[in-house]
Amino acid sequence: MDYTQQKIRVKIQKVVRYVRLFGLIRTLTKVQAHYHMKKEFVGRQSLPVPSGPTGKHVGILGCGKFAYANVAYYVHKKYGSVIRGVMDTDLNKAISLAQRYRADYYTTSAEEVINDPHIDLIYIVSNHASHAEYAIAAIRLGKAVHIEKPHVVNEDQLIRLCAAIREHNGRVRLGFNRPESALGLLLKQYLDAQSGSSMINWFVAGHAIEADHWYFAEEEGGRILGNLCHWIDFTLRLIPAQNRFPIQIIPTRSRQSDCDISVSYVFGDGSIGIITFSAKGHTFEGVRETLNAHKGNLLANLSDFSELRLDINSTVVRRRLRFRNHGHKQSVLKSYLMQTDESKRDSVAMIWESGYLILKTKEALDTSTIISVAGFRDS
Ligand SMILES: NC(=O)c1ccc[n+]([C@@H]2O[C@H](COP(=O)([O-])OP(=O)(O)OC[C@H]3O[C@@H](n4cnc5c(N)ncnc54)[C@H](O)[C@@H]3O)[C@@H](O)[C@H]2O)c1
Repeated sequence: MDYTQQKIRVKIQKVVRYVRLFGLIRTLTKVQAHYHMKKEFVGRQSLPVPSGPTGKHVGILGCGKFAYANVAYYVHKKYGSVIRGVMDTDLNKAISLAQRYRADYYTTSAEEVINDPHIDLIYIVSNHASHAEYAIAAIRLGKAVHIEKPHVVNEDQLIRLCAAIREHNGRVRLGFNRPESALGLLLKQYLDAQSGSSMINWFVAGHAIEADHWYFAEEEGGRILGNLCHWIDFTLRLIPAQNRFPIQIIPTRSRQSDCDISVSYVFGDGSIGIITFSAKGHTFEGVRETLNAHKGNLLANLSDFSELRLDINSTVVRRRLRFRNHGHKQSVLKSYLMQTDESKRDSVAMIWESGYLILKTKEALDTSTIISVAGFRDS
């Protein structure tokens, strides 16, 4: 829903609720991001790439709401004016983001940013079909790359992306943020401390997306690749790596293959993961998500990444955060550290397995068939 077009009463209600959920600064940044998308700079042209160094070294491809309110916001807040070049197919978005975060230049040419020798880290925050293509070109030139979700929209892209990473020892991190959140990390730590198989059950109410939104364009992959990928990837990461494969994917769908669906996974160790994704009316507080998990003596309940309850026998551990924390800040900043710290990158096995499971989940739901997937083979 476009809140900039709503009545003043609705706008105030939304802002008040968001201040309670996310805090004042985050809410203001989200509001600014919506107005950023409306800015127009009539008659302006791309700025040329400066010929020499300027002390800035970060590039951003795609300057929409997420780039503005999360990627550029957290990088700029933590590291200051380090964003050198920004690109968007819509120059207005690139100019607006460049002005707000003091980039040296803005352009509609991805090649200019990717080929800029003074940029060593690129955040890819554009439409889904372009992610892997931009990433492969950047990896070939030795840049570190943060790829927003989903990293690929088809198997051919996944094969070429993983080949480029292996060939060029690519430094790549996927923008899956939930595993980096404070409560996500704590949940994983407690689950790993238990033995045996897990039962993991998500109920997600997705925010309403207009039927003509670009997520639904054929080449962009729809909501399985655009939204469900978050919980598919996180569920996979919650199962210890050695216990994951083979995975059986069992789809349940109704009229649509990517809204109002449920998908079950049976993992190699007998663990079961179930994701129920409901997309109906408007959700005023954004995406709502609840996780219930059971493993060994641990019973876990996570609500909207703001509350976590862990029961371990007679012990109860509770964490209640002041504001929702989905791990966006941690994810964006972890990618920044990839340049100096090898451990921050995702392994090629993780990039393959996460991407393959997401693509095969889409196929299972599209065709209403049960599909079994194997793990990454390092051949
Ligand atoms: N990690 C998260 O929680 C999270 C949340 C929201 C969005 N995202 C991801 O961030 C990315 C951007 O989403 P958004 O919400 O900002 O969307 P948006 O619609 O607000 O912005 C997308 C921007 O990309 C630009 N664009 C389109 N095609 C392009 C191309 N080929 N090259 C460069 N720019 C192009 C558009 O002009 C637009 O400015 C998507 O991959 C989305 O899935 C991640």
